[in-house]
Amino acid sequence: MTKIPSILILILTITLFLFQLAHGSTLQVFHTLGPQKAVSWERTVLDQQAKDQARVALLLSSSLAVGRKSVVPIASGRQIIQSPTYIVRANLGSPPQTLLVAVDTSNDAAWVPCAGCVGCSSSTIFDPSKSSSFNNITCADPMCKQVPNPTCDGSACTFNLTYGGSSFASNLVQDTLALATDSVPGYTLGCIQKATGSSLPPQGLLGLGRGPLSLLSQTQSLYQSTFSYCLPSFKSLNFSGSLRLGPAGQPVRIKYTPLLKNPRRPSLYYVNLVGIKVGRRVVDIPPTAFTFNATTGAGTIFDSGTVFTRLVEPAYIALRDEFRRRVGPNLTVTSLGGFDTCYTVPIVVPTLTFMFSGMNVTLPQDNFLIRSSAGSTTCLAMAATPNNVNSVLNVIANLQQQNHRVLYDVPNSRLGISRELCTK
Ligand SMILES: *[C@@H]1O[C@H](CO)[C@@H](O)[C@H](O)[C@H]1NC(C)=O
Ligand SMILES: *[C@@H]1O[C@H](CO)[C@@H](O)[C@H](O)[C@H]1NC(C)=O
Ligand SMILES: *[C@@H]1O[C@H](CO)[C@@H](O)[C@H](O)[C@H]1NC(C)=O
Ligand SMILES: *[C@@H]1O[C@H](CO)[C@@H](O)[C@H](O)[C@H]1NC(C)=O
Ligand SMILES: *[C@@H]1O[C@H](CO)[C@@H](O)[C@H](O)[C@H]1NC(C)=O
Ligand SMILES: *[C@@H]1O[C@H](CO)[C@@H](O)[C@H](O)[C@H]1NC(C)=O
Repeated sequence: MTKIPSILILILTITLFLFQLAHGSTLQVFHTLGPQKAVSWERTVLDQQAKDQARVALLLSSSLAVGRKSVVPIASGRQIIQSPTYIVRANLGSPPQTLLVAVDTSNDAAWVPCAGCVGCSSSTIFDPSKSSSFNNITCADPMCKQVPNPTCDGSACTFNLTYGGSSFASNLVQDTLALATDSVPGYTLGCIQKATGSSLPPQGLLGLGRGPLSLLSQTQSLYQSTFSYCLPSFKSLNFSGSLRLGPAGQPVRIKYTPLLKNPRRPSLYYVNLVGIKVGRRVVDIPPTAFTFNATTGAGTIFDSGTVFTRLVEPAYIALRDEFRRRVGPNLTVTSLGGFDTCYTVPIVVPTLTFMFSGMNVTLPQDNFLIRSSAGSTTCLAMAATPNNVNSVLNVIANLQQQNHRVLYDVPNSRLGISRELCTK
């Protein structure tokens, strides 16, 4: 690799512009990528694969812990590292302190590094002593029961959480959170006192999941559990996307599929994936690969934090085999990291369609292929879910969602998708 590729840069710096539309709130994001942050394409792919694998395991373990009140580490022994892919600007406190927080549709609580934190990596942290609207939440407060496994430190409500390979100890606090031009007084969030590991989003996280303590739960009257985003492509060095909060201003012409709720994993956004087409052919995949199951947590979710789509093994293998057959059975297939379907010669690419209940989504090539900048290597950018006892979850990841508007309409139990170019 002589040239730094424009695709798949591992570390993204996203700057957020704020403005209010006539109806609804829109958070505008654009990324600026410094060349010094670029690493080789191959390295990046390998790194991201490792992270995704860990994240899928994490989605499973953290969710499974809900019913049992204990964390079941599925990826034990594996190197788990995590870094945020998409971040937005949030203002916390009075006067506002600005933080670039990761947005994550598969987590509920928000948390930020707080002044005096031991082990936090960022120099940008939240200082409660400089905020006149800050409050500690006491152990007696009903809010304290909303966090997983709360403990009492004196009268203070505290909790510990694992995220990626990191964990942290946090106080539960309240302060004014401002997104775009909206202000949410008394937002409940974690104020991190101690962190271990290097995989926490450095300036914190804003949970967009559907469980207690999430942005949706705390802004019911303001945003009515409705939001959408357009994630910009990794390909452009200068690109912008948006997170749109509230039912107003959402697209009208958009295809919908029902949103499903899984009591086993109450934070996650499940949909009903029913099939996959390669070209016009519906791939022969056993229906059980997609079956939603509230007992095991099996099914398909949309996730903003995983980069590459993961399908349960029988589904992935059937899809991959059909893709290879269509591309050309006699072409040499190579592998790269966790991707097993790569070509080093130019190929004719078939279309790929995800069939959800009531909604077919045909993906542009950029949503399912990754190419080196010189065009010498092309890979199918999906993989099988890590093979373990919980390999039951299909994850529609953010590479597959980029340059689409994805609308989460919880009151009407539906998820919408329409094509939208948000890459400049
Ligand atoms: C919150 O609790 C910390 C100790 O954990 C204390 O130093 C601080 O003064 C408290 N702040 C308020 C506003 O009560
Ligand atoms: C939470 O983390 C802190 C700091 O690492 C530790 O001292 C404490 O024992 C942990 N609490 C629980 C309940 O695990
Ligand atoms: C990036 O986009 C911004 C905003 O649209 C623009 O002002 C700037 O000139 C662009 N930079 C490059 C290098 O294209
Ligand atoms: C869900 O999975 C459990 C455990 O494997 C199984 O017993 C049950 O029949 C499944 N339910 C459905 C609706 O498939
Ligand atoms: C692929 O290779 C086989 C055996 O070498 C040959 O019979 C067949 O015609 C080839 N197919 C294509 C599409 O080139
Ligand atoms: C999706 O595609 C399948 C197979 O081509 C077709 O049978 C089905 O009607 C389509 N569904 C919608 C909602 O367009």
